[in-house]
Amino acid sequence: MVYKPVLILAAHTGAAKDFANRIYQKLANHKNGCWRKYLLKEINIDFHPDKEIKVEILENVREHECYFIHDSSLYPQDWKESLLQVNDALMISDAAVINNVLPYMCYSRQDRPTGRTPISAALLAENIKSSGAKRVLTTDLHNPAISGFYRGISFENLKLGYTVLIDYIKEKHGDFLKNAVVVPPDDGAARRTSGYGKRLNLSSVSIEKIRDGKTNEILEMKIIGDIKGKNALIVDDIVSTGGTLCDAAHILKEKGANSIYAVATHGVLCKDKYGKSAKEKIEASPIEQLIITESIPRKDDGKIKIVSISDFIGEVIKRITHAESISELYEI
Ligand code: R5P
Repeated sequence: MVYKPVLILAAHTGAAKDFANRIYQKLANHKNGCWRKYLLKEINIDFHPDKEIKVEILENVREHECYFIHDSSLYPQDWKESLLQVNDALMISDAAVINNVLPYMCYSRQDRPTGRTPISAALLAENIKSSGAKRVLTTDLHNPAISGFYRGISFENLKLGYTVLIDYIKEKHGDFLKNAVVVPPDDGAARRTSGYGKRLNLSSVSIEKIRDGKTNEILEMKIIGDIKGKNALIVDDIVSTGGTLCDAAHILKEKGANSIYAVATHGVLCKDKYGKSAKEKIEASPIEQLIITESIPRKDDGKIKIVSISDFIGEVIKRITHAESISELYEI
């Protein structure tokens, strides 16, 4: 059987181009039994004058396995629409297998109805499936159960927190870890935080939020556990407006925490309803460093440290294209 080269595709402009290039370099220079060939190719993703999205596949993709590395720094609506159009264009152009690499899954916090609201994460999954994708690679989903919306195609929810982020913290912040506890900033982060605690061999301290029964406003925050003189590692999956993280950091400092670090996979880092940015809040908070991945392309900035995931994603693509296990990556 003759295998055609695997195509690594990204938009010719935009933040994913450099990311895709680093993934490609990892694949092209792989030594460990890698017999597949990979090629890096560009896709034209642009706008018509009326702002409709315009996609064009610039080269032959017929019968090739294609990995489209999408740019998560696009606005969610542009991200979704351009993804669907790329898949459609690849399908029309006769690609053999369409794989979507979506390091940050937009709409993942809209995963259940709350009153008269859509299940946007399920709607997105239906759209992606019907646009021709045969596999989706994403990372640290807000709710792992979202994978069920992708029934019928292959779906990988890669654990970046438990691999690249924990490795980074162990390597760079050994002294901090000697006297540290892990802290979930809210109830939703408890499970993820205990996963970090287990892997870093740290105990957990929690924050109880006492709310007004009618307005749901936070009236008081209490610390459950011993924080005085300890370093605190706050763990979350997403930092959006930065409110959750910074509120937790302030109460931890007030109750006597020593150094405060925070870690999360996805740095959405947007403004809140008052126009204050997550970055401003983090810089003004007691957090000494926020460690996030490049699931949404960014550069180091002030207290914000970006950890690269391109080698990890490259390794995953290498394993898929060689029919090897991905879960073994977590056991190394
Ligand atoms: C929510 O459940 C997530 O895990 C994060 O805690 C949340 O998205 C953070 O949002 P923000 O940064 O706007 O407080």
